Amino acid sequence: MATVLEAPAGTPDARVTLRTVRRWARAGEPVPILTCYDATTASWLLEGGVQCLLVGDTAAQVVLGHDTTLPATMPFMLEITAAVRRGAPSAFVIADMPFGSYQCGVDEAVGNAIAFLKQADADVVKLEVDASWGPLAGRLLAAGVPVMAHLGSRPQHVRAAGGYIAAGRDRASADEIVHAAETFIELGVAMLLLEAVPNEVAQRVVAAATADPDRIVPVIGCGGGNACHGHVVVLHDLLGLTTWQPPFALPQAALGRTISKTAKQWASQVRAGQYLRDDHPYRMKG
Ligand code: KIV
Repeated sequence: MATVLEAPAGTPDARVTLRTVRRWARAGEPVPILTCYDATTASWLLEGGVQCLLVGDTAAQVVLGHDTTLPATMPFMLEITAAVRRGAPSAFVIADMPFGSYQCGVDEAVGNAIAFLKQADADVVKLEVDASWGPLAGRLLAAGVPVMAHLGSRPQHVRAAGGYIAAGRDRASADEIVHAAETFIELGVAMLLLEAVPNEVAQRVVAAATADPDRIVPVIGCGGGNACHGHVVVLHDLLGLTTWQPPFALPQAALGRTISKTAKQWASQVRAGQYLRDDHPYRMKG
């Protein structure tokens, strides 16, 4: 019998693994996932009970200020993924492979994916794919790299598609997504992500992903509908730090306003000469 080398569930340092996420999906416990891009925020999200973090290439937009996710690079994504891991040592960390890091040839793609596991201690790598990417996923899986196949709307195709579009809204495109999901399930991917698709598509994908109760593939929605095993949104949307949010990720806080209000208050203390006037912490010792 195989020995399971894992801290007992519930102990503070029990790391959430793919096995844990599969267990939640099997038990019907919906999985909340948030994007995260730095160590400090990761530790607060973990403290808040969010144990799965996606280091998304949306960092190119919300951290670096680009219009699209396309400029995210391997060194940048590796650095921030490692930071999230340091901030949340027990979290399940999903690393997003940036545009160009897996479209560049199989050997380089495998090397880049392995770098996320070796250098950043990620649990899974995510790739935006359709069924034609099966051979690459197969190579990654054979190399021991757990893969999350991101299906449906694929923001890395924004230039090719001429903009951002929902997916699977007509019969043919829904069938294509379900076929891709079946391909990746058959290959043995760790997880699936469905972005901006109708719930009917999610229902069909979840049915395929749970057909074998011994090999459940958790399906995570990003605007993917309620049938999914879990959901992910961009943290900056949830916190009210972005000026526009997709309709499935409306803000539940107004942190942007809190930041500007706090900055304004502090700046006016400085301008009025009040800051450190009576409470400077450093005094001469002699
Ligand atoms: O990069 C990202 O944040 C993502 C999610 C929006 C799914 O891929």
